[in-house]
Amino acid sequence: MHLTIITGASRGLGRALAEASLGPDRLLLCMARSSMADLAMAAARHGCLLDARSVNLANVNAAVAALANGIGEVDVSMVTAATLINNAGSVDPVKPAEKLKPEEVAASVALNLSTPIALTGAFLRITAGWRVPRRVLNITSGAAHHPYHGWSVYCATKAGLDQFSRCVALEQEGLANAAKIVSLAPGVIDTAMQEQLRAASADDFRERGRFVALHEGGELQAPAEVAQRILAYLQHPDYGTQVVADLRKI
Ligand SMILES: NC(=O)c1ccc[n+]([C@@H]2O[C@H](COP(=O)([O-])OP(=O)(O)OC[C@H]3O[C@@H](n4cnc5c(N)ncnc54)[C@H](OP(=O)(O)O)[C@@H]3O)[C@@H](O)[C@H]2O)c1
Repeated sequence: MHLTIITGASRGLGRALAEASLGPDRLLLCMARSSMADLAMAAARHGCLLDARSVNLANVNAAVAALANGIGEVDVSMVTAATLINNAGSVDPVKPAEKLKPEEVAASVALNLSTPIALTGAFLRITAGWRVPRRVLNITSGAAHHPYHGWSVYCATKAGLDQFSRCVALEQEGLANAAKIVSLAPGVIDTAMQEQLRAASADDFRERGRFVALHEGGELQAPAEVAQRILAYLQHPDYGTQVVADLRKI
C-alpha cells in the first residue's frame, strides 16, 4: 500500500493530485481547511483509504500534529512506499512590501515555507526506519527565481523552499534508505490562485495584465494534466537527481 500525504488537497493542483492518486492499493492522508467530503466519497468508490484532516497549515504545530497523528494510525507493515507532497500554498499577500501587514507576512511564510519544512522534517523522522521508498515533493514556483512586482513574500518563500530542498538532499546523501526530495515548479495552472491574481489591483501587481492574457489565450494548464505528469515524475527512476526542477523542462 502506497501512503501519500498531500497538503492543500481541497481544490486546485492538490485536489487533482489526490484524485489522480486514488486506487485500491493507496492510502491518502489529505490536509486542508475546507471539507474534503466529496473526495472521501470518490475514494470510497475506488476502494481507496482516505484520511482527510481539516487543519490550518499556517499553524506549524497543528500541521505537524496532523501528519504525526495520521501516520500514527497507519499499519506500517502494510506500507510499500511513502510520499509527502507539500502542495498547499498561497500567493497572498499580493502587494508591494511597504503595504505588507506583519500578520499576513507571518501567515504566508508559515504556510508556504515553515510548514513544508516542519512537515518534511517530521516525515523523515517518523519514516526513518521504514524499509520502503520514501519521497518528498515540494511544489515550488518559477517565482523562486524570477522576481515579480507585488509578490515579494511568495517569491521569497518559494526560493526558501528550493534551498531547503537542496539542504535536505545533501543530508540524505549516503544514508541507508535515503529519502529522495525534489522542489518542482509546475508552470501556470488554471486554479483559484490564478483567479486571485487576475482579481488583484494593477497598482499592487503590475504584471496583472499578462496573467489576464494567459487566461484569455487559453495558456493555463489543466490541473488534472499537471497532476498526471507530476505523479509520473514521482515514479521515474531519475526522481531526486535534479533537486530543483521545472515540470516544463523535464
Ligand atoms: N496555479 C498556478 O499557476 C501555480 C503556479 C506555480 C506554483 N503553484 C503552486 O501550486 C500549489 C497549489 O496551488 P493552486 O494553484 O492549486 O492553489 P489553490 O487553488 O489556491 O489551492 C490551494 C490549496 O492550499 C490549501 N490552503 C491554502 N491555505 C491553507 C491553509 N492556511 N491551511 C490549509 N490549507 C491551505 C487550500 O485549501 P483550503 O483553502 O481548503 O484550506 C487549497 O487546497 C501552491 O504551492 C502554489 O504556490 C501554482
